[in-house]
Amino acid sequence: MSTASRSDSVRGGGQETGGPRIVVGVGGGIAAYKACALVRRFTETGHQVRVIPTASALEFVGKATFEALSGNPVHTDVFSDVPEVPHVRLGQEADLVVIAPATADLMARAAQGRADDLLTATLLTARCPILFAPAMHTEMWEHPATQENVATLRKHGAIVMEPAHGRLTGADTGAGRLPEPEEIFALASLLQERADAIPRDLEGRRVVITAGGTREPLDPVRFLGNRSSGKQGYALARVAAQRGAQVTLIAGNTIEMAAPAAVELVHVTTAEQLKTAVDKHAVGADAVIMAAAVADFRPTSVAAAKIKKGAGEPDVIELTKTEDILAGLVQARRDGRLTDTAIVGFAAETGDEHGDVLTHARAKLARKGCDLLVVNAVGEGKAFEVDTNDGWLLGADGTEQALDHGSKALLASRVLDALGPLLRK
Ligand code: CTP
Repeated sequence: MSTASRSDSVRGGGQETGGPRIVVGVGGGIAAYKACALVRRFTETGHQVRVIPTASALEFVGKATFEALSGNPVHTDVFSDVPEVPHVRLGQEADLVVIAPATADLMARAAQGRADDLLTATLLTARCPILFAPAMHTEMWEHPATQENVATLRKHGAIVMEPAHGRLTGADTGAGRLPEPEEIFALASLLQERADAIPRDLEGRRVVITAGGTREPLDPVRFLGNRSSGKQGYALARVAAQRGAQVTLIAGNTIEMAAPAAVELVHVTTAEQLKTAVDKHAVGADAVIMAAAVADFRPTSVAAAKIKKGAGEPDVIELTKTEDILAGLVQARRDGRLTDTAIVGFAAETGDEHGDVLTHARAKLARKGCDLLVVNAVGEGKAFEVDTNDGWLLGADGTEQALDHGSKALLASRVLDALGPLLRK
């Protein structure tokens, strides 16, 4: 094989797909190894990926790893592959640039508009959305110099993610952990659907979001539950936090998901526990978004021991209505116990002989008295457990907006757009 054809075949790995062009920039931090999972996620979903590490990133992960995972050559400086003018071309041709991990040094250089390696040069030529996923020690993240650089990058139009809070290299914990690759991928995908989906419009706001389904115990091994995966509530929390809000996510039972970065996560099981947590965290909040699928009924009595077949088996299971948390919030606002908190409900509806999805949803909005109702049509392969969603957004002021089919993150960004004007002045 000639050199030319070998390099063509390497490049072909991504280009044959004709998918969106992603540049993954990798800074020199220990979290560079997590960039491998991200690159893989992009290539598996049909993207053409070019990895541009800094020289120090290659101290952590070898060039061969990034070349094998992306199917493309990897360079760090502007003097490799000069006839291709990669320092101009890679940025110009990119549909999205994702920097993970974005170190303090890399963000400082990017904020200054330096072009001293291939990655920073690429950042200057890119006109597509640029997403930075920071990773560094808490002190470095909190340092005024870094915070000023982050502000500068945001002012220049880049999206700089809030880092996660948690275990850092060594024994210390705090803000500065790289958000999970799955979360970076979700936000990158959102930017591909809608470039302006992550504005910093919720800074200084406190938002409470519920997610997942409740489980109402029947005995020590059984419960009444529902099919909610929690994906929509997690997407809302993730996007709201990256739009600058201080988010408390109260989660019932969900599928296994990465905890959204920079979000306070509270776990609950039953409707009663959910209500207690919502009532506590709603005080003083700017908004409460009830995306959880709350059980309407719970077994009236919970057996202390496993219910057995045979003698003593129940003929029927008696159920008791649970409290309506959403209606309770609206009532608390009417009574003045909650001041100016915007309240958003969700409705998963199917049509029936009494009316179609929207007819039921309009009646529910009137009954619940919330400010916004997000309506999803449910049924086979819709809304539950899948990654996409669509529906309508009904406002208490009579406005109705169709929510086009897209990712749950896209739906989240539309809901947050509609929430903005309802927040207290
Ligand atoms: N909800 C709640 N507390 C409950 C039940 C529901 O806060 N006990 C909230 C949900 O989180 C959602 C909204 O109310 O935001 C609508 O939930 P849904 O189950 O569709 O409404 P229901 O009032 O239970 O009406 P339906 O008779 O259609 O089940």
